[in-house]
Amino acid sequence: MSEWLIRSERPGDEPAIHSVTKAAFADHPHSQGTEPAIIEALRADGDLTLSLVAEAGSTILGHAAFSPAHLSGDEAGWYTLGPVAVLPERQGQGIGRSLIEAGLTQMRAAGAQGVVVLGEPDLYGRFGFRRGTALHIDGPLASYFQVLPFGSAVPASTVAFAPGFASASARDR
Ligand SMILES: CC(C)(COP(=O)(O)OP(=O)(O)OC[C@H]1O[C@@H](n2cnc3c(N)ncnc32)[C@H](O)[C@@H]1OP(=O)(O)O)[C@@H](O)C(=O)NCCC(=O)NCCS
Repeated sequence: MSEWLIRSERPGDEPAIHSVTKAAFADHPHSQGTEPAIIEALRADGDLTLSLVAEAGSTILGHAAFSPAHLSGDEAGWYTLGPVAVLPERQGQGIGRSLIEAGLTQMRAAGAQGVVVLGEPDLYGRFGFRRGTALHIDGPLASYFQVLPFGSAVPASTVAFAPGFASASARDR
């Protein structure tokens, strides 16, 4: 049994989620430090479909967010995973895997069609995400875009992330 539990965000968790996310991305080569603001923008917009924390005792060790993905063909039931963050001193112990697997299980059980993510293929490929599907994004980050369909249908649509991703990045610039 692991020494942490995975549960949904509760009121009062917001500052700890901010700190964990800020610390996790502090040395990330592709981060502009906007991840805590993205989570807050998603929350303010009502777009935090699922917000999971990993907790040991009363300490939050990690966090994963899921938000709605908007498809150009208006197909419903697609969600974006991210940001995902684990405290630097607790990385590499299986906490990120627990968060991602629990989130995917919950999204599938809730009837989602699938989940998309923008991130390292080496990391997300371990969870079944794959590149080069019909579902895609445009632009320079397209090669980091990955899709995990829960069924056989993968629409040939373009994905737009929830507005919180763009508004947080613009505000912090
Ligand atoms: C990425 C992150 C959330 C993973 O959490 P973690 O608790 O360290 O990961 P785990 O120990 O559960 O490892 C899960 C698996 O992913 C792999 N992995 C972890 N980080 C990885 C990375 N950056 N690249 C490739 N694989 C990675 C592990 O080797 C492990 O694989 P295995 O189970 O097949 O052996 C965490 O390292 C983190 O917060 N990093 C900084 C922020 C970040 O990069 N977030 C993701 C943005 S795309």
